[in-house]
Amino acid sequence: MTSVSLSTSAANALRADAVVVAVAKGPKGLVLAPGAETVDEAFDGRLAALLTTLGATGAEGEAVKLPAPAGFKSPLVLAVGLGEAAEADQYAAEALRRAAGTAARTLQGSKKAAFALPLADAAAVEAVTLGALLGAYVFTACRSEADLANAKAPLGEVALVGGKRGDKAAKAAVERGTVLGEEMNRTRDLVNLPPNDLFPKSFADLVTTVGKEHGLKVEVLDEKALTKGGFGGILGVGTGSARPPRLVRIGYTHPKARQSLAFVGKGITYDSGGISLKPAGHNETMKCDMAGAAAVFAAVVSAARLGLQVNVTGWLALAENMPSGTATRPGDVLRMYGGKTVEVLNTDAEGRLVLADAIVRAGEEKPDAIVDVATLTGAMMMALGARTFAVMANQDAFRDTVYAAATAAGEQAWPMPLLADLRKGMDTPTADIANMGERMGGGLVAGLFLKEFVAEGISWAHLDIAGPAYNEGSASGYTPKGGTGSAVRTLVQLAEQAAEGAL
Ligand code: BES
Ligand code: MN
Ligand code: ZN
Repeated sequence: MTSVSLSTSAANALRADAVVVAVAKGPKGLVLAPGAETVDEAFDGRLAALLTTLGATGAEGEAVKLPAPAGFKSPLVLAVGLGEAAEADQYAAEALRRAAGTAARTLQGSKKAAFALPLADAAAVEAVTLGALLGAYVFTACRSEADLANAKAPLGEVALVGGKRGDKAAKAAVERGTVLGEEMNRTRDLVNLPPNDLFPKSFADLVTTVGKEHGLKVEVLDEKALTKGGFGGILGVGTGSARPPRLVRIGYTHPKARQSLAFVGKGITYDSGGISLKPAGHNETMKCDMAGAAAVFAAVVSAARLGLQVNVTGWLALAENMPSGTATRPGDVLRMYGGKTVEVLNTDAEGRLVLADAIVRAGEEKPDAIVDVATLTGAMMMALGARTFAVMANQDAFRDTVYAAATAAGEQAWPMPLLADLRKGMDTPTADIANMGERMGGGLVAGLFLKEFVAEGISWAHLDIAGPAYNEGSASGYTPKGGTGSAVRTLVQLAEQAAEGAL
């Protein structure tokens, strides 16, 4: 695993495989960002000119290599682009995360790099730490040993050079960046695991093992316990699969906690659509349909690793949605946990069914707020694109809080309304509600369905991460192909705000 540490050495004095500097697009061409001074001096002040000769412009995503000057302990200099030059050299956290991510990805196969980047304050140190860990990520779990032996290993070590001795704020920033990076990478691994390896039981077992390592309380309801408890939504979705469903509760508590949060994650380990089968072209990436549960799991572990003064409970609703002779049929009525009945008109609208059970169960513990995370609708991808998640809520103020938390955490999100007139589309003569409504506004319809299962008086928000959870495009910045770790940072940010009693 990649590690990041602070170093008081100068860029030229550290033995590494490469020294990384940052460059930006100034009004008159490429400019060096702070941190690059030592390297520039060794090039007799000609570094910007040299890089320009090599075609560099400072644009975001750019990575240009050149041999290190004489006297350097590293053989290579790598310049990464930050985009437009910032006023007074105050670079935004996202620009730093992306540049650090590009550097770590470019240096795959190297053992150690010295990052001589603009580290003006603790926020910058955290951004570079996180970007480096995320950029270094490679999914290797399914490669044979022979294949791995021929592949480049992820960058091993990153030293942030030019630090002050005993800088406590910087140390804490590396710590927070490391926890977030490692936990987002854990989420990515879970999302990237194929559905023949990750299914409800294996997922629950893993949560049990990792939870124990971090002193967390983990309870798993298996199919028998789910039947006894009347969890008709989770059972109804899981019944078509040879691999039975699970509901996992993972709890972190702090003795000085002022507030409590419940995170609920959609954990469909594979979504074939069920009897309402998805056509070819729509099911190849459906191993990603447990990304919400993975994010919830990682966020609870993060809260524990950071020792936040808050109580956080994660609920992972795990099932495999498959067609078979025992599968739920379009037309079946499910009796959900808590007693509401749902007519299943489309078995591909399964996420809301497993979430509904888990939301009702989470509400019984009367948390201050419930936040669910789900790869819920293609409609929301259509609305916001593939890199932004939607935030819906039962109170406008709480929606604004969650949206602001996402933005502060560096995640692209956008608030969406739960328009009341869409509710009647889910009316049915047969049951309390149907699991489908109008096609137009399908992402909001799904949100309105979930809202029906939130107990009176509890703040609730719903994050539809169907777009950003899984990157089908190419890698860029700190985002790889495949699982991304979407929503983890937002959930941790919310847990930190709750630790301040601010939710
Ligand atoms: N898991 C899908 C949503 C999805 C689509 C996630 C693409 C990631 C990428 C979800 O279970 C689903 O199938 N939703 C349906 C709902 C419809 C049947 C009401 C959809 O969006 O088409
Ligand atoms: Mn589906
Ligand atoms: Zn699904």
